[in-house]
Amino acid sequence: MTDRVTEMVVEERPEGYSGSSGGSPREPTSARESLRIPRIVVHAFCDSPEAAAAIECAAADRLMSRARVAVQSGGVAAAVEHYNQTPTPDLIIIESRSQHDAFLAELDRLAEVCYAGTKVMAIGSTNDIAFYRDLMRRGISEYIVAPVDPIALISSIAGIYGASSTGKLGQVYAFIGAKGGVGSSTLAHNVGWTVAHKLGSNVVMADLDLPFGTASLDFNLDVAQGVAEAIQDAGRLDEVLLDRLLQKCGDHLSLLSAPATLEKAYDVQDGAIEQLIEVAQASVPFLILDMPHLWTSWARNTLISADEIVITAVPDLANLRNAKNLIHVLRQARPHDPPPKLVLNQVGMPKRPEIKVNDFAKAVDLKPVACIPSDAHLFGTAANKGQMVAQASAKGAAVKAFSEIANVITGRQEAKHSRGGYLGLGSLLGRTPKKPA
Ligand SMILES: Nc1ncnc2c1ncn2[C@@H]1O[C@H](COP(=O)(O)OP(=O)(O)OP(=O)(O)O)[C@@H](O)[C@H]1O
Ligand SMILES: [Mg+2]
Repeated sequence: MTDRVTEMVVEERPEGYSGSSGGSPREPTSARESLRIPRIVVHAFCDSPEAAAAIECAAADRLMSRARVAVQSGGVAAAVEHYNQTPTPDLIIIESRSQHDAFLAELDRLAEVCYAGTKVMAIGSTNDIAFYRDLMRRGISEYIVAPVDPIALISSIAGIYGASSTGKLGQVYAFIGAKGGVGSSTLAHNVGWTVAHKLGSNVVMADLDLPFGTASLDFNLDVAQGVAEAIQDAGRLDEVLLDRLLQKCGDHLSLLSAPATLEKAYDVQDGAIEQLIEVAQASVPFLILDMPHLWTSWARNTLISADEIVITAVPDLANLRNAKNLIHVLRQARPHDPPPKLVLNQVGMPKRPEIKVNDFAKAVDLKPVACIPSDAHLFGTAANKGQMVAQASAKGAAVKAFSEIANVITGRQEAKHSRGGYLGLGSLLGRTPKKPA
């Protein structure tokens, strides 16, 4: 069976493209569906106009409509210069016309500016098994011999991220307050926004506080059924339905909002949140869960299974007791994971007696990753305007703290200068991201 989309892609090849159409067999439609590329950010640095044209051609295919693809010329040198200033994306496609050792040396230079979570696909002209093995040894995810066939390229990207690849795409970060009203949702929204806007990664924010969630207010969006529909009939949810339920909120951020109405009660079916996480995780690199202040079985299981947990607490006695209990239970349930991240919020509120940061940390046996000062005017202004704190005022300790938390949980940084230590060569050496405990 001939695939009409494939036909169109082949017919509409941009001028200058001279790639081989024999690189991979044309797949029937149903097989092509399995090649749908998730919501990743892809940067391509090409050494030849032909490769750039083929990648642009692939990017225009519907199978890549969720991914954001940027193609530029200049090859490895341009990539290294670029990533000296900017964080690396989910996937870099690098083309070089250099041969064997020279190409490997170029990739080693790229490795020095690459984050641990970034994958690299190489395009070259050497068709040699020893060279291929050298590339694989360096942790390169895929190697394609030029000329590039757009469909073969999509298939290779799908191979890296698809069902057949090991490991899931998305990292899940769950944010919960040690007590109600401590600012956990505010933190989740601002950190998610920072990951999307400053680190340029695609993020889905799920507001799991169905009756009272504030995400749509904070992002100034119309209330939608989002999460409620997604979990209504767990077996029904797939990537297509999830796409329909997501509300776009800027280039890299999508929101699954809470209905925030009280006409009905929101009992969560067994496995519904799990299914939501699984589907979202398959299509986006970062999933942020804005958890309600609850301790039901679904809330507990969701926290335990998250990649990272961020506990927000205010420095008073009730928060200390609850944070201590939460940290203890989560440490016990996740003995091989780093402990949850603790954030002390609303520190230094005028006239309020507070437990000192050091004493709080000692009592819960965990150092906070950030302390955010109380600033009723700044947070109140942002909340009332439906803005993020950084949009209300770009400077200040809170905005810096959001960036630091985003860096700690994602293992990425906004700029290269402090990238050392757990980042850098990791990806190309095939290591998993090492995050500070
Ligand atoms: N550092 C801060 N300084 C001043 N006000 C803050 C600060 N952080 C959050 N707030 C304010 O505290 C209020 C509660 O915040 P938020 O809704 O994020 O808390 P929560 O922990 O998610 O509450 P809930 O238990 O209802 O889910 C909001 O009005 C928010 O603007
Ligand atoms: Mg909340």
